[in-house]
Amino acid sequence: MAAIKRIGLITSGGDAGGLNAVIKGVAREAYAHGIESVVIPNGYAGLYNLVEMDNIVVLSAERVSRIEASVAGSEAGHSRVKISKIKDDKTYERIKDGLKKHGIDALIISGGDDTGSVVVDLGNQGIPCIHVPKTMDLDLQTYSVGGDSAINRISVFTRDLKTTGMSHNRVMIVEVFGRYVGHTALRGGIGAEADCILLPEIPVDFDIVYDHIKATYFARVERSDVKAGTYVMVVAEGIKTASGELLYDESAGVDAFGHKKLAGAGKYVRQQLEKRMKADPAVLEFMKRVGMYAPGIYEIPEVREVVPSHLVRSGQTSAFDVNFGYTAGAAAVMLLLEGRTGNTVVDVSGKKITYIPTSEAIKRREVDISEIALFESLGICFGRKPQKFEYELSEAKMPIARHL
Ligand code: F6P
Repeated sequence: MAAIKRIGLITSGGDAGGLNAVIKGVAREAYAHGIESVVIPNGYAGLYNLVEMDNIVVLSAERVSRIEASVAGSEAGHSRVKISKIKDDKTYERIKDGLKKHGIDALIISGGDDTGSVVVDLGNQGIPCIHVPKTMDLDLQTYSVGGDSAINRISVFTRDLKTTGMSHNRVMIVEVFGRYVGHTALRGGIGAEADCILLPEIPVDFDIVYDHIKATYFARVERSDVKAGTYVMVVAEGIKTASGELLYDESAGVDAFGHKKLAGAGKYVRQQLEKRMKADPAVLEFMKRVGMYAPGIYEIPEVREVVPSHLVRSGQTSAFDVNFGYTAGAAAVMLLLEGRTGNTVVDVSGKKITYIPTSEAIKRREVDISEIALFESLGICFGRKPQKFEYELSEAKMPIARHL
């Protein structure tokens, strides 16, 4: 491979925490090797249109110092454009012309599964590329920048909602992103000590959820000296009913990658719970016993859904994601220089940089539901009959898995 003098940086798909750390990691590592890095703006849309651009931003030391690594979003901008879906037979020629025009020898691209599939395509077209994993959904095989930030934000929002939930004795449902997998709903929910967590991986039986509410929330309010209590649920947008039906709002349409936009899981859960509360005479008795009952006004506990939506991936990046983003960005430069095109950075631990082929990294990773039974034994409901935690023992080999 010819010497790399200029690297183009792309962030693609949904934005997430830690991307600015990736950008800084790439730019500063490249700089240390005497290589220039430039921003290709607006994800793959920008790559497609590069040939039309007269100027692109060079990540000089001064420009990079103006980027704040702990702020989410991406200084490079995003789009959900998949190169193979662009209606132009000359797309790859056009991309190559754009790269040539700006003297870009190789690309570092940060994104999720759709983005990664384009990294594979571009590599097959002879364009040297390295992939830095990014997705707040954590559905790749590798850890991905943005995941920890999303978990922390879900956890903080959910915990914060308990004060208002408690003041009104409400059941609070927090609907979070998580199209196919529930990693962030699970970990964020546990982080907030949610009572119930619903994941795409476990079809929901609403009778079980309802029984759990009666057993925990009712008792909580009755036990309280001021008759106050709340029940908090974290629900991934991609949950399915027991019959396997996905709960999305047909009117929401599709995104630029062609995926159905999900919306409405929280609302659906609320309706299911309200329906059961209205039909259950024990609810009225409970309302009267704890002094919540007001005929015609307040006959069942209120259930409210809250959808933090894009707030989960906005704002502040976690310290972990800044660490990961910095090191993964720098490692991507080293992989490029070593000619390891078509690979995804896995981790940097000590002096070891690990990577795997991008085609492998982007295979979907679901929540390992064998762990769920452990949380069920701790009293958390997952919308199914609690199962016994079947564990195995395994003595760890040195060195022990990475920790900070
Ligand atoms: O990037 C993945 C994701 O977080 C999904 O979980 C979610 O469905 C999607 O982004 C929503 O993003 P946007 O509305 O910005 O396209």
